[in-house]
Amino acid sequence: MNSINLTRPDDFHLHLRDATALASVVADSARQFARGMIMPNLESPITTVALAEAYRQRILDNLPLDTNFQPLMTLYLTDNTLVEEIKILAEHDHVYAVKYYPAGATTNSDNGVSDLEKTYPVLEAMSEQGIPLLMHGEVTDTGVDIFDREQVFIERILAPLMKRFENLKIVFEHITTSDAANFVMKGPENLAATITPQHLIYNRNAIFKSGIRPHNFCLPVLKREKHRQALLDVLDGGHHRFFLGTDSAPHSRNAKESACGCAGIYTAHNAIELYASVFEELGKLEQLEDFASHFGADFYGLERNSAQITLVKKDWTIPASLPFAESEIIPFMAGETCHWKLLTA
Ligand code: DOR
Ligand code: ZN
Repeated sequence: MNSINLTRPDDFHLHLRDATALASVVADSARQFARGMIMPNLESPITTVALAEAYRQRILDNLPLDTNFQPLMTLYLTDNTLVEEIKILAEHDHVYAVKYYPAGATTNSDNGVSDLEKTYPVLEAMSEQGIPLLMHGEVTDTGVDIFDREQVFIERILAPLMKRFENLKIVFEHITTSDAANFVMKGPENLAATITPQHLIYNRNAIFKSGIRPHNFCLPVLKREKHRQALLDVLDGGHHRFFLGTDSAPHSRNAKESACGCAGIYTAHNAIELYASVFEELGKLEQLEDFASHFGADFYGLERNSAQITLVKKDWTIPASLPFAESEIIPFMAGETCHWKLLTA
């Protein structure tokens, strides 16, 4: 197959940042995707509908003129989120979900949830209103090995939460393990998961290939090969509750190449092309469209997109670096060959 057409995809997990960083990255996503579920972990987190609306406007103001990209906004859950805010959200057009970060789990998560029980009234209201909870699925207990944090999250947090709130819609974000894949697969219809390109393409050896590779560090951290294979098996099976979410998370080169480098991988430059390569290797290119353009919209109860994109089979080299705010960013797989190319008008 030398080219494929598919419904324009959506990115259901995207970090766009703000100010000059936002201005540098947003066109990459808009070129490929119709919609993006925008993560709220700014330096000053998006904790209210009013803040989300203002942030949405800043995103729209930074879009290229020739795009219809729609930012789907989310709220950042804290111990202090008010039930009243959920009522406002439910009446609002542009905010679609609430994001759970365990306090201290990752970039800008200091204001995250310290004790999930404190949020129960809010979760109750979300469950009643059908508002999805998007979960960063890791525990932050430093006694738990970093490679086990997702698995322990399932036992300690997710399974009990789902018992307590049977009808709450949950997206287990950026899953990385066979444990998460199996749990979601066996779970009810109100549980879904996103999968990133990096967790499909690399295993944890990529973080230490001939030295330490800060540009391959993200959270949840890359896992063993058997876990990567489990994620590939999910795509191979074409299960309808797993869908595209890049977790593209830009950080400047200096912030990554540091004694304490930030977590986050920038995949937005060519995300759909990376996913196409994964599906091609599986021999399941025809299933890319369901994963990238159908299943996520269906889970969120959104209309599927009507526009189409075309991907052509063509080798090209991913740039060594891209401009980013006052600095530069090193994209995922910089300098390596990508085998698919999005046709742009
Ligand atoms: O690697 C990550 N980077 N994981 C996250 O959960 C957050 C993200 C970011 O915002 O940089
Ligand atoms: Zn994220």
